[in-house]
Amino acid sequence: MNRISVMQNSSLKISPSLLNRWRHDTPGCSHRNHLNNAGAALMPQPVIAAIHNHINLEAEIGGYEAADAAEESIAESYSQIATLIGAKSRNIAMVENATVATSQALSAFSFQPGDVIVTTNVDYSSNQIMLLSLAERFGINIVRADDLPNGGVDPNSVDRLLKKHRPKLMLMSWIPTNSGLIQDAKAVGELCKTHGVPFVLDACQAIGQFPVDINEIPCDFLAATARKFLRGPRGIGFLYVSDDALDKDYRPLFPDTHGAAWTEPDEYELEPDARRFENWEFSYALLLGMGAAAKYANELNLKSAGKRAFELADMVRNKLREFPGVTIRDRGDHLCAIVSATVDGRNPDDLVQQLRKKKINTSAASRTAGVIDMRAKGADAILRISPHYYNTEEEIERLMEVLESLVAGSR
Ligand SMILES: Cc1ncc(COP(=O)(O)O)c(C=O)c1O
Repeated sequence: MNRISVMQNSSLKISPSLLNRWRHDTPGCSHRNHLNNAGAALMPQPVIAAIHNHINLEAEIGGYEAADAAEESIAESYSQIATLIGAKSRNIAMVENATVATSQALSAFSFQPGDVIVTTNVDYSSNQIMLLSLAERFGINIVRADDLPNGGVDPNSVDRLLKKHRPKLMLMSWIPTNSGLIQDAKAVGELCKTHGVPFVLDACQAIGQFPVDINEIPCDFLAATARKFLRGPRGIGFLYVSDDALDKDYRPLFPDTHGAAWTEPDEYELEPDARRFENWEFSYALLLGMGAAAKYANELNLKSAGKRAFELADMVRNKLREFPGVTIRDRGDHLCAIVSATVDGRNPDDLVQQLRKKKINTSAASRTAGVIDMRAKGADAILRISPHYYNTEEEIERLMEVLESLVAGSR
């Protein structure tokens, strides 16, 4: 293989002191070559500290008492998450994960037989399953917009479908789980706004990967999780609910005693803000961890950090292309920091396990992660390599060395 030194790649130049600081902040960097940020990124120290401190406080003074004592930090967490996407605290609901965020949003619609939901071919598997379940129960129709020739949803097709079906809503994953594709959320959001169709955006892989400003991407609901590129803990996420959606009084199907108050035997009153979509019980330690992750992201220049992650992913793609038997499976005009590839004759799960033995973290996605996309690509499963801004060129080189020996060993 013709090895081109990655250090010569001038576009990847970054101040060594900044990179050192990011890595110094991230204890996991000294144990692992972590290229699974689309799975769950390594948490930086402030996130770890926020979680530990709150768990310790709960152990010392009691769980309810600790939540009261942390009131200001909890409010600050809402504010940091809101700032991250250009929203206000009133628009943010804390939920367990992106799937719950999406299901809470979907529960705000009253479906009738014959209603249409427009979605895309690469939407996340759980979202597709939820839509299929809604179709089964309520007799709604799922209509998937066509793709552009190079991949990703075709906004013209979305436009036609919104005009033709007057759907109940549009649901779209900005970035799918199983490839580096970035779909055109801005174009789709604007079309939904023009046609007056509510837009539910799954931004799970986008948040923390590059700057997201809700004022530029019109949407009514946005679902996100903490653990991926945002670098928060597992087990927490958030739902953004727009002012417009709140003004229109969108309400979750199952509000609880936190999102609503039981005021009379046959009456309840909902919270006026997005908190109506929350549940009473959730982990305040994780919430504070997600708040710390949002603060960390707000304080770095996510635009240039995100650019670095994209460039590291491009480096992975360029180097993989030199391997015999490797096919890059990313399609689309705009690619992000997720690389998907297949290696002839090799099962991606086995590759993940063998890389892990060498302390290199990657992941695999099976056909069921995206049956339409995977079928179109003729792939049963893919190897997913997802760098973040804190990864180094040397880590990519090391991945390539190990992969090269694994692939050569199987020939
Ligand atoms: C594109 C996309 N959407 C949604 C989800 C669901 O996120 P969570 O597991 O936090 O519910 C994932 C998870 O991998 C994802 O990749």
